[in-house]
Amino acid sequence: MRRKLVAGNWKMNGNRESIRTLVEGIKNGLDGVNCDVAVCPPAVYIPKVAGMLDGVPVEVGAQNVCDQDSGAFTGEISGAMLAECGCKYAIVGHSERRSLYGETDELVAARFAAARRNGLVPILCVGETLEERENGTTEAVVARQIDAVIAVEGVAGFDGAVIAYEPVWAIGTGKTATPEMAQEVHAFIRGKIAGLDQAIADKLVIQYGGSMNPGNAADLLAMEDIDGGLIGGASLKADDFLAICKAAS
Ligand code: 13P
Repeated sequence: MRRKLVAGNWKMNGNRESIRTLVEGIKNGLDGVNCDVAVCPPAVYIPKVAGMLDGVPVEVGAQNVCDQDSGAFTGEISGAMLAECGCKYAIVGHSERRSLYGETDELVAARFAAARRNGLVPILCVGETLEERENGTTEAVVARQIDAVIAVEGVAGFDGAVIAYEPVWAIGTGKTATPEMAQEVHAFIRGKIAGLDQAIADKLVIQYGGSMNPGNAADLLAMEDIDGGLIGGASLKADDFLAICKAAS
């Protein structure tokens, strides 16, 4: 039985005061939560959040990680730096990074490899645009995004890693994939990995992301291959985030 993972991707939101309130709210509401929980603050707040969560069963993740380990890479943050500052996870290939900042499948795969090499658990985001769904290419797109990682890391790269299926058309739009639509893609992802290594596939945590909220979480999380959520907007309110964690418990 896979343990579910609910992670909050705060994106570029918050300030010192609001983040203190959010973290305190999460810390004080963990009764009844029995799943893995993580929060991914903007990078500059990672040390502060990690300090506040010291000894609390909530892990910290980064929203991205550099593909290189050190040197002249202005604006980037290495995996070792993130690990030293308290991160367990690193999101890679979020659709906003792909579409707004031009990150290619190859760069995302290199970032994924850097996360692993530095002891971080990568959360690889995959997902199709509305146009791709309507064209019937959802599985081809997701397969291509996963194959780029396999080309660099082999299927072993997914041993202990996390994949987040985030249909781009559902991110920040209030539109959610139905549980059946999400399950179909999650099963496809697990089947693809199982074709290469059944044991890795069986333990692979596949999160759903895209307007998951307290109202729809239970139905999504009831599906066989949905092992948690990567939460954007609803992770900025402690009560909503905790309600999703409880639905996963
Ligand atoms: P929303 O939950 O705001 O749709 O964002 C999902 C997401 O992008 C998480 O990474």
